[in-house]
Amino acid sequence: MSTSEFTTVSPSGAALRSTLAAVRAEVAKGVVGQDAAVTSLLIALLCRGHVLLEGVPGVAKTLLVRTLAASLALDTKRVQFTPDLMPGDITGSLVYDARTSEFSFREGPVFTNLLLADEINRTPPKTQASLLEAMEERQVSVDGTPRLLPDPFLVIATQNPVEYEGTYPLPEAQLDRFLLKVLLPLPERDQEIEVIARHAAGFNPRDLAAAGVRPVATVAELEQARTEVATVQVSREVLGYIVDVCRATRHSPSLSLGVSPRGATALLATSRAWAWLSGRPFVTPDDVKALAHPTLRHRVQLRPEAELEGVSAESVLNTVLASVPVPR
Ligand SMILES: Nc1ncnc2c1ncn2[C@@H]1O[C@H](COP(=O)(O)OP(=O)(O)O)[C@@H](O)[C@H]1O
Ligand SMILES: [Mg+2]
Repeated sequence: MSTSEFTTVSPSGAALRSTLAAVRAEVAKGVVGQDAAVTSLLIALLCRGHVLLEGVPGVAKTLLVRTLAASLALDTKRVQFTPDLMPGDITGSLVYDARTSEFSFREGPVFTNLLLADEINRTPPKTQASLLEAMEERQVSVDGTPRLLPDPFLVIATQNPVEYEGTYPLPEAQLDRFLLKVLLPLPERDQEIEVIARHAAGFNPRDLAAAGVRPVATVAELEQARTEVATVQVSREVLGYIVDVCRATRHSPSLSLGVSPRGATALLATSRAWAWLSGRPFVTPDDVKALAHPTLRHRVQLRPEAELEGVSAESVLNTVLASVPVPR
């Protein structure tokens, strides 16, 4: 195997990792369970990627984002995407100041660290496009003047998996811009009991400070962690494995569209962040497998026939992962 196995994890890496573990513990003061989603959001922060969050109403999507923001002392804003929302309602717009008789820029809600874009598919494509452009460029241009967005800048866009009627599904090309698609399932019985037990004991989702949630990591620490992630080694064999998994989706008879090379770079980034979070200075095929579903599920398109037969993106990815030879 590669020489990377003999590299040790740096001590500062270990300290940063426990800082991120502290973020997890802090989020858990608000959100019961949903560990996979919390991990995914940390990975997105480490990779500077954006997240699609899918779940029915009432599974703590909003609470998760607000608690994460509070744990990192990040600014957060929420926008409810409605049919009448205009691009300027996201990016901001020029407003006329009668006093100075000049136009000045009024920042839209996109000027924040964690933007919760609720029910993104309820807004028409033009408004969706203004958000997606801001995500990609990390700046907005109004009236020809580019304005930089803050860093970190993470968009968490929610979709309701059930109510697709009267909505504007994001085009495939735009889905590809989300690093991860995270599913927020209904809680298990025990977890749901814990949720309402907390309510019985006075938990108020609008008062996270009262629940003891406080900032435990700084933006500087997050930045250092990103630097650490960049040092995680990836052998040529594992790079080959990532590419083979993505290529295999392009030959799947159930898919009309497979994973793009952009998707392959995303899988590299997320596997690397996961390896680092797991305390390893190199990426293993198991890291790639662990991140394949959340990183790739929204980047493939099922054929209508396959969908009718009950095939899902998840089952296709399982088949692909089972068939692609794993390097050893
Ligand atoms: N896993 C959970 N942990 C803690 N509270 C939860 C959980 N799931 C649901 N809740 C409760 O349900 C409420 C609704 O959550 P919310 O974040 O508004 O859901 P969503 O944004 O998904 O519609 C929360 O404020 C919380 O009281
Ligand atoms: Mg909500």
